[in-house]
Amino acid sequence: MINDKTIAWTVDRNVDNLTFSTEILEAAEHIKQNRVIAFPTETVYGLGGNAESDEAINLIFQAKGRPSDNPLIVHIASEDQVERYVEEIPNKAKALMDAFWPGPLTIVFRHNGTLSTKVTAGLETVAIRMPDHPVALAIIEAAGRPVAAPSANRSGRPSPTTAAHVHEDLSGRIAGIVDGGKTGVGVESTVVDCTSQDVMILRPGGLTREAIEQAVGKVLVDPALTEIDQAPRSPGMKYTHYAPTAPLILVEGDRDFFCEQIDDAKASGKKVGALVTDDCHGLTTAHKEVRIGPRADLSTVAQQLYPALRSFAKNEVDVIFAQVFPESDLGSAIMNRLRKAAGGMIIHQHENK
Ligand code: TXA
Ligand code: MG
Repeated sequence: MINDKTIAWTVDRNVDNLTFSTEILEAAEHIKQNRVIAFPTETVYGLGGNAESDEAINLIFQAKGRPSDNPLIVHIASEDQVERYVEEIPNKAKALMDAFWPGPLTIVFRHNGTLSTKVTAGLETVAIRMPDHPVALAIIEAAGRPVAAPSANRSGRPSPTTAAHVHEDLSGRIAGIVDGGKTGVGVESTVVDCTSQDVMILRPGGLTREAIEQAVGKVLVDPALTEIDQAPRSPGMKYTHYAPTAPLILVEGDRDFFCEQIDDAKASGKKVGALVTDDCHGLTTAHKEVRIGPRADLSTVAQQLYPALRSFAKNEVDVIFAQVFPESDLGSAIMNRLRKAAGGMIIHQHENK
């Protein structure tokens, strides 16, 4: 069922004993009743429902318009919940949990059949994470259940980093939205597969490969993330995502080359938008420039990326240009999202790239 009214709660993330606040208890009650509500995590807002209820999971898929072959992440509030749902906790997974939970890391385990097959989309594995956000943790604790939560956007839209973004996409389609302020990281969690000997990154995200390697040594990266003809191991990675309202074109080259692409598009009569780092601000001829932070400060760029992609209204511009980033640290997640938003459209200054 689609709700006519979406309740709006506001919660101060800094108050003590959040688990017992009226707003959290109300929101958690909806989860207990198998309805779905949105809440902040440290990465992006999630759309949460009881992971043990097919009814709740159906509502999540309906509200988002999400393909049912794309499994959900199960969110927990304490490490000991993991063993209820998995066949085993491999040593490397345990090391990652100890090092990075709560935090922006989702771990894929072999499941033991306890959870709904709707959550896992019929796979033999389940993705689990403990978010590092007091509001998310309080809701999961108060609900007393594992909470399945994809990002709280309509499928194909940029993930929400504020409650206002969730309202834009899901008002009237879900029971409620808990506003706990802006999220911190700005891109989703890193998804790693721990079911084989070597840990493999299936989706780059808020926790960097470099940090993961410090905890468990060399990790693999799903080849499908860089090679177009490979099927990704994480089902969600095959869909076009994060689409802004106009085509996005990535530009690999220096600042002058970037500015030239914008000049050329304008000369051909297009209304042009641009995502610009601070060093380019005011230098392009774009009709609308949206700043995404200092080029060297990838944490800020990650925080600004989705709001920037959302900031172009329908028909406001005909095309949006953005420069590429180096693919290390948070740059891997930023470039993964930019490439998907651009649907592969990239212009290289030097032909041989
Ligand atoms: O930061 C995040 O992870 C946010 C917040 C709300 O926690 N959630 C999120 O969920 O990004 P979602 O549903 O938008 O993305 C989940 C990703 C998808 O790419 C999905 O295919 C993958 O995780 N996934 C889920 N279960 C999986 C599994 N068993 N094996 C491989 N990939 C899986
Ligand atoms: Mg998502």
